[in-house]
Amino acid sequence: MFAVHLMAFYFTKLKEDQIKKVDRFLYHMRLSDETLLDIMARFQAEMQKGLGKDTNPTASVKMLPTFVRAIPDGSENGEFLSLDLGGSKFRVLKVQVSEEGKRNVQMESQFYPTPNEIIRGNGTELFEYVADCLADFMKTKELMQKKLPLGLTFSFPCKQTKLEEGILLSWTKKFKARGVQGTDVVSSLTNAMKRHQDLDVDILALVNDTVGTMMTCAYDDPYCEVGVIIGTGTNACYMEDMSNIDLVEGDEGRMCVNTEWGAFGDDGALEDIRTEFDRELDLGSLNPGKQLFEKMISGLYLGELVRLILLKMAKAGLLFGGEKSSALHIKGKIETRHVAAMERYKEGLANTREILTDLGLEPSDADCIAVQHVCTIVSFRSANLCAAALAAILTRLRENKKLVRLRTTVGVDGTLYKIHPQYPKRLHKVVRKLVPNCDVRFLLSESGSTKGAAMVTAVASRLQAQRKQIDKVLALFRLTQEQLVGIRNKMRVEFEYGLKKDTHPLATVKMLPTYVCGMPDGTEKGKFLALDLGGTNFRVLLVKIRSGRRSVRMYNKIFAIPLEIMQGTGEELFDHIVQCIADFLDYMGLKGAQLPLGFTFSFPCRQASIDKGTLIEWTKGFKATDCEGEDVVDMLREAIKRRNEFDLDIVAVVNDTVGTMMTCGYEDSNCEVGLIAGTGSNMCYMEEMRNIELVEGDEGKMCINTEWGGFGDNGCLDDIHTQYDKEVDEGSLNPGKQRYEKMTSGMYLGEIVRQILIDLTKQGLLFRGQISERLRTRGIFETKFLSQIESDRLALLQVRRILQQLGLDSTCEDSIVVKEVCGAVSRRAAQLYGAGLAAIVEKRREDQGLEHMRITVGVDGTLYKLHPQSHIFAVIPASLFL
Ligand code: BG6
Ligand code: GLC
Ligand code: GLC
Repeated sequence: MFAVHLMAFYFTKLKEDQIKKVDRFLYHMRLSDETLLDIMARFQAEMQKGLGKDTNPTASVKMLPTFVRAIPDGSENGEFLSLDLGGSKFRVLKVQVSEEGKRNVQMESQFYPTPNEIIRGNGTELFEYVADCLADFMKTKELMQKKLPLGLTFSFPCKQTKLEEGILLSWTKKFKARGVQGTDVVSSLTNAMKRHQDLDVDILALVNDTVGTMMTCAYDDPYCEVGVIIGTGTNACYMEDMSNIDLVEGDEGRMCVNTEWGAFGDDGALEDIRTEFDRELDLGSLNPGKQLFEKMISGLYLGELVRLILLKMAKAGLLFGGEKSSALHIKGKIETRHVAAMERYKEGLANTREILTDLGLEPSDADCIAVQHVCTIVSFRSANLCAAALAAILTRLRENKKLVRLRTTVGVDGTLYKIHPQYPKRLHKVVRKLVPNCDVRFLLSESGSTKGAAMVTAVASRLQAQRKQIDKVLALFRLTQEQLVGIRNKMRVEFEYGLKKDTHPLATVKMLPTYVCGMPDGTEKGKFLALDLGGTNFRVLLVKIRSGRRSVRMYNKIFAIPLEIMQGTGEELFDHIVQCIADFLDYMGLKGAQLPLGFTFSFPCRQASIDKGTLIEWTKGFKATDCEGEDVVDMLREAIKRRNEFDLDIVAVVNDTVGTMMTCGYEDSNCEVGLIAGTGSNMCYMEEMRNIELVEGDEGKMCINTEWGGFGDNGCLDDIHTQYDKEVDEGSLNPGKQRYEKMTSGMYLGEIVRQILIDLTKQGLLFRGQISERLRTRGIFETKFLSQIESDRLALLQVRRILQQLGLDSTCEDSIVVKEVCGAVSRRAAQLYGAGLAAIVEKRREDQGLEHMRITVGVDGTLYKLHPQSHIFAVIPASLFL
């Protein structure tokens, strides 16, 4: 009994002594919590530096954009090839990503050796070798006939400007092939593959191993947004907000950033914690002065660090009785797997003895305990450093999301992490200590980074296919210069048809004389009532004009017109209008006043004088019965009579375009055109009397209400009329009518967008293929939403919020597509306005025989007013020069 106690005491004492000795010797390698927090803060600053446009060039931590924008959503599928080059093993794989919505991935793979003469020889030969291995793999797996997309996991720092390109910044770890640095790896491999004529492979993605790992893990856990490699090398990537990535345009959504944290400290930022062993190891490496953080952490270097320490301790007489073996002098003799074996919980000491003996040493019990402790200190430091940098990333993620607590998953891979018995536990513990406000799950990537690379490739290949489909749809809305000139010319022809007596009856652009012959000259004065019916709002106004000072004062009130009245009987409609006038007069304290009234009636009317207007037909959202073919002035008079409360003298009925032109003409005598881009679309202009065959007399000018909304009703725009326009037309109150208006005005643009979205969803390109009830609802895309969504200044998140308000649950990608669709539809509208205006401006210039003409266009309407003008309507002036 006593002997046993004595032995135990002896061993405990022995252990304590050895540990103290090593602790003292490696004092500098033991990092306190305080130091780790300090390193974490330094790394946070480094990340910021790498992300900034100005600071990036001198930053040691490169923070490389990867062009991977989303984690897998489970919809990925297909068959892919994958290459994995740069880790401890080189593999070629075939990956089959689930079909029929089942999340399962099958892989077949083959390892190939990477002899030093290949990885440190000539670059061209390296890529030829890789291509040869791929060809060999495809032959053995009988894949030669298939054209498969390939994802390349290439675990070195690459500068990317797109997913399928990567300029090697520098070799790291064991690789050092000549002539590759500064060149695009994807094209080098593509070129090398050309030697195999039977190989038909499209490299769709280049990903770093960290990215592959993150994606692999994210396939199983959607919270995964960080990927860490602790293997031959070390590195991490994470999902960063696009708005923080200066090097890539756009502020929308997120993108994975490959930190290349291995280079942390290359600018001297870690000199205070580097030891003499780190410096010695660096000097003997393939890339002195580079990857200094990596050299304190990763598998390629840990064994060597231990060897250098043991050698120094032996020299100092602290180990092996001062004896050194020749093997201990040889670089690389101790590897990470040895360090891992020596740190095994139970067999560790025995392993240590065996390993040391193999090195030609004769270790005592005390030596074994000491050496084991050296390993612990070295690998613990590694885990600590990794934890500090990872903690910085997690903090950044939490702050980006403005969360008090972050719940997230870190995908991890790498030989050191996988084979070292204590490493994961230590790493996790320290991370949790450093960021107590993050709930972190660590997920080991069971299938390496290739599964993730295949996901990226799957997404890329799906996106490529989807892009093609989306582009095909959007292309329908892109009008070429040639097409626009064609449209302008056709519009000109229609103008002539409308003006000529013979062709007028059949003309689709009606060119209605308005009996407005002059522009305001500033002498007008008095008090008028005005009605404004036919736009977004129905308004009653009181207008006070004072001559001389050219001052106009207006008081107005907006009234609603319920749908059942818009589409009820004519009597009901006009009774309602008169009711509103009565309310207004009451409100203004003008009950019983007898005032002249101007009626802005924004529908096509045939006029025989300024105060007579026969409604030709309703447009837009109106469909009241018994009005078409009737004089709307009479109808209004009768309704006033029916009410028998006040008397009003209706002096004029004008179209809104005419009203707009006159309003602008009051301020600018060059204004001879009035344009409405609102609920409806229309234009009026001053025409020479001699050109107006429908009205007698050749002197002077008269305003013509073109009613260009009907342009195309004879089929002349069929070549640009898309299936979506057809659907909108069919669902409207006036099918077959107002084709041009339906491609240009606020009442219809949102509907076109909705039709496109429905179709894209049907094609599985949006909203995960699910057509929601909301999307089926007519009219959800009001002009204001369209304008907002399309606004350049709007971040994607805001677009998403608007879509959410509309009841459409969208992903980031969905929002991008929706925004593109809105953009395409409104851009076409603006182009069409431009073509139409170009037609009138050119006509006026020619009619007047002018070389150069100055003209002002008065514009109004909700679409014009709400739309981010600089963007879309900037097209209009440009297209005047068609
Ligand atoms: C208004 C005019 O500003 O614009 C109306 O006063 C016109 O007369 C309207 O109908 C057209 O725009 P929207 O977008 O309201 O149809
Ligand atoms: C090196 C490479 C890096 C890679 C890491 C892990 O640090 O530079 O790109 O991710 O090793 O393999
Ligand atoms: C419709 C009407 C037209 C009006 C335009 C703008 O096209 O037919 O008269 O000017 O809308 O409101």
